[in-house]
Amino acid sequence: MTFNIKQIPKQEGRIAIVTGANSGLGYETARGLATTGMKIIMACRNAEKGKNAINAIKKDTPEADLELMTIDLGNLQSVREFADNYEKKYKRLDLLINNAGIMIPPFSKTKDGFESQIGVNYFSHFLLTNLLFPLLQKTEGSRIVSLSSIAHKKGKIDFENLNAEKRYSRMEAYQQSKLACLMFAIELQRKIDDSGKKVLSVAAHPGVSGTNLPRFIPRVLYTLAWPFMLFMAHSPEKAALPTLMAALDSDVKGGAYYGPQGFNDMKGAPGLAQPEPHAMDKDVAKKLWKISEELTGKKFTIAPA
Ligand SMILES: NC(=O)c1ccc[n+]([C@@H]2O[C@H](COP(=O)([O-])OP(=O)(O)OC[C@H]3O[C@@H](n4cnc5c(N)ncnc54)[C@H](OP(=O)(O)O)[C@@H]3O)[C@@H](O)[C@H]2O)c1
Repeated sequence: MTFNIKQIPKQEGRIAIVTGANSGLGYETARGLATTGMKIIMACRNAEKGKNAINAIKKDTPEADLELMTIDLGNLQSVREFADNYEKKYKRLDLLINNAGIMIPPFSKTKDGFESQIGVNYFSHFLLTNLLFPLLQKTEGSRIVSLSSIAHKKGKIDFENLNAEKRYSRMEAYQQSKLACLMFAIELQRKIDDSGKKVLSVAAHPGVSGTNLPRFIPRVLYTLAWPFMLFMAHSPEKAALPTLMAALDSDVKGGAYYGPQGFNDMKGAPGLAQPEPHAMDKDVAKKLWKISEELTGKKFTIAPA
């Protein structure tokens, strides 16, 4: 299965939301989707960065249909307002790309008291998907793509320390958040299948790419790691391809996971990736789902078809 975005049929009339579209993989995802003629909602927390990204994309794709809508995934009220504004304006949603993320910041809490990585990377995207699901299920051929990471492999959903109530390890919290994103994508598809609905929930990971994500790694360590990065990593443009494949390829099946096919899944052409067995654990996924509903204050109901 090879993926070439240039062979994707034109997508005019369809709408995608990309969170974190101003930088790194979100930017490259929006740039790729824009070439298909789809309208892209650039869901960014910083309006100025969002506008700069729009201008940059328009430089090489002048016909790109891009709109900025602000969202702060560190604040559930902002997520609710974003979904509300979107629903007032649009009657369809074809693609929701849950891309934005942070990695290994010093300990801090989101506005709602979540540890920042699980809050921004996972809980807010859980709520965003929940709020937009009625529109997604009304839109034929709609998909949700959730960004995970190689980091999920070492992740553990620690229900006793989900929000770093007991202790904070920057890396363990990142690994847990990315495992949660992957388990969410898979569990959502299980629930969609049970309901008989046609929406697809898919996960993707980019491998390794030199974006702004490692901004919290001390500069000296990052400089030392740079020669290895040159060997291990690929460009954000290539690293966004698994997301684009998950979003656009006609052979994609719900609940699948996409990533680079090269050495240790770090780089290479996009294709099917293998979640670790613990990411498929149905009991943990169900428990995480229930807690996510409680903590985000909204039951996630998928009505039978
Ligand atoms: N790069 C990699 O090697 C790699 C590997 C595995 C997985 N990933 C995943 O890929 C995704 C994209 O990461 P990236 O590498 O492209 O990193 P990036 O360049 O740092 O981009 C992250 C994006 O998320 C946005 N964001 C962060 N906090 C936010 C918040 N509170 N509300 C709204 N937006 C927020 C950022 O906005 P600002 O610009 O305003 O900060 C930025 O647009 C993440 O989910 C990450 O976990 C990346």
